[in-house]
Amino acid sequence: MSFKLPFIKSKKKPEGDTEIINVPRHVAIIMDGNGRWAKKRGLPRIAGHKEGVDVVQQTVRTASNYNIKILTLFAFSTENWKRPKPEVQFLMKLPKQFLNTYLPELMEKNVRVETIGRFDTLPSQTKEAIQDAKEKTKNNDGLLLNFAINYGGRDEIIQAVKKMTKEIENNQLNIEELDENEFSNYLYTKNLEDPDLLIRTSGERRLSNFLLWQLAYTEFWFTDVLWPDFREEVFIQALKDYENRKRRYGGI
Ligand code: IPE
Ligand code: IPE
Ligand code: MG
Repeated sequence: MSFKLPFIKSKKKPEGDTEIINVPRHVAIIMDGNGRWAKKRGLPRIAGHKEGVDVVQQTVRTASNYNIKILTLFAFSTENWKRPKPEVQFLMKLPKQFLNTYLPELMEKNVRVETIGRFDTLPSQTKEAIQDAKEKTKNNDGLLLNFAINYGGRDEIIQAVKKMTKEIENNQLNIEELDENEFSNYLYTKNLEDPDLLIRTSGERRLSNFLLWQLAYTEFWFTDVLWPDFREEVFIQALKDYENRKRRYGGI
């Protein structure tokens, strides 16, 4: 028998068709499988990346409709520089392309754009497009669309330790005061709550250096669906699955 506790309110929004109780506040997604999607169709890998851009916006729409607060999307890892140069160059053009197409809709939907990762070493065109979107959307208080770009979990931790060590040397931080909360303030995700739900597409079941610190108690959901095929129904399947998770955080 399944029953719902009466005091749990449905978070259904008028725009979302499916009733979802207990919507995760922060969803993180490893958008994987673009290359395989293209290969299956006899297309070059970049065709998969191109297709994946529109899926990002569809996913933003769903997240916004269901009142998710934060959507963190893994767009480019610190390891993805290993790929052939033309592919990397293509990937670096996508943020601009995405924002040129969808910034008006993001504004209309009250979405705020942010990024995590090493921003300084991105190509200047990529940086400018993102900076412009951050600036234009900074007062929006709907969904926070957070792109992990040039992001690596280990790199993030190293950067945090470096910054912290400097502050200790300058007597700005007392080592005795360091705890988990304080350490979190040195990460790219400072001010962000940890993800409730992590989704990875394409059948791979690994983190690939994503949010190593932040995913400590996150619920994981994997699907074989390739990113360019990630339709709203698949996202909703993940949200429905999350609905029934029992999070104990080590308690009983
Ligand atoms: C995800 O798709 C996009 C990025 C990592 C930038 P992939 O490009 O990794 O696609 P597959 O995994 O090779 O199919
Ligand atoms: C993870 O996917 C990175 C992004 C989705 C941006 P990869 O395709 O790079 O991961 P691996 O190489 O399969 O672990
Ligand atoms: Mg991949």
